[in-house]
Amino acid sequence: MQTRVVFNQKGGVGKSTISTNLAAISAKRGLKTLLVDLDAQCNSTHYAGIDITDDTRTVADMFKQTVGWFSKALTAKDFIQPTAFDHLFVMPAAPALADIERELESRYKMFKLRDTLKELETQFDRIYIDTPPNFNFYSKAALIAADSFLIPFDCDDFSAQAIERLLDNVMELKSDHNPDLVCEGIIINQFNAQANLPKQLVASLIEKGLPVLKNHLSASVKVRESHSQRKPLAFFAPSHKLSQQFGLLFDELER
Ligand SMILES: Nc1ncnc2c1ncn2[C@@H]1O[C@H](COP(=O)(O)OP(=O)(O)OP(=O)(O)O)[C@@H](O)[C@H]1O
Ligand SMILES: [Mg+2]
Repeated sequence: MQTRVVFNQKGGVGKSTISTNLAAISAKRGLKTLLVDLDAQCNSTHYAGIDITDDTRTVADMFKQTVGWFSKALTAKDFIQPTAFDHLFVMPAAPALADIERELESRYKMFKLRDTLKELETQFDRIYIDTPPNFNFYSKAALIAADSFLIPFDCDDFSAQAIERLLDNVMELKSDHNPDLVCEGIIINQFNAQANLPKQLVASLIEKGLPVLKNHLSASVKVRESHSQRKPLAFFAPSHKLSQQFGLLFDELER
């Protein structure tokens, strides 16, 4: 089992789009894949086609159980939902994640996600974790639980500045709590090869010695269409250029 977390504390850079689409490709390639959504916005849960009702057990319930707010003892697999897509499963997020964060943090529950995912070691081939746009309790729990992390970059000047701060934060967490955590690289998202600024920004990341992944993702309206259809690109538009780019990126990570 390989567990990857997609993280950037900057909002709107493509975390949910990338984690859901990489998970979908992984599933399409026949790997039993779990998408864990740790963001109270529930974007990747929604994108993967999962509806949250009062009866849905979510990752918030998993965390609640660790502080004894949940009477029945459930195991990791009880918090997982199948999707309409073969081999793709979701541990859904819930808006309640926002309400319980302080309590979880004050009770040092940051390691509980790692313990939960460990229970699934023989049941899944790949796990992708989507994170909120903050270096908060949930993104830290994800980085502690993961084998590696990916950083989406949206070709914006502010993002370039934020990456170094992000790496400092993650490296500190790595040395304190997860020494084996690997940085797999920066994913260039919404890349426009015709414009100068994105090329300059990417070049400056490379000059700084930052690990930029070779396969970039273009901007395309297909992303919004696939969100609104609640179908990841590998299923919604498999032959589209962006779907192909996601496939190449997946291969680059898996090689
Ligand atoms: N390659 C792309 N082409 C076009 N639009 C994109 C692309 N990637 C992301 N977007 C759009 O950018 C917006 C932000 O994407 P997404 O929700 O994946 O980012 P995020 O980092 O998860 O955001 P948040 O920090 O709020 O969780 C969405 O409206 C999405 O449709
Ligand atoms: Mg998101």
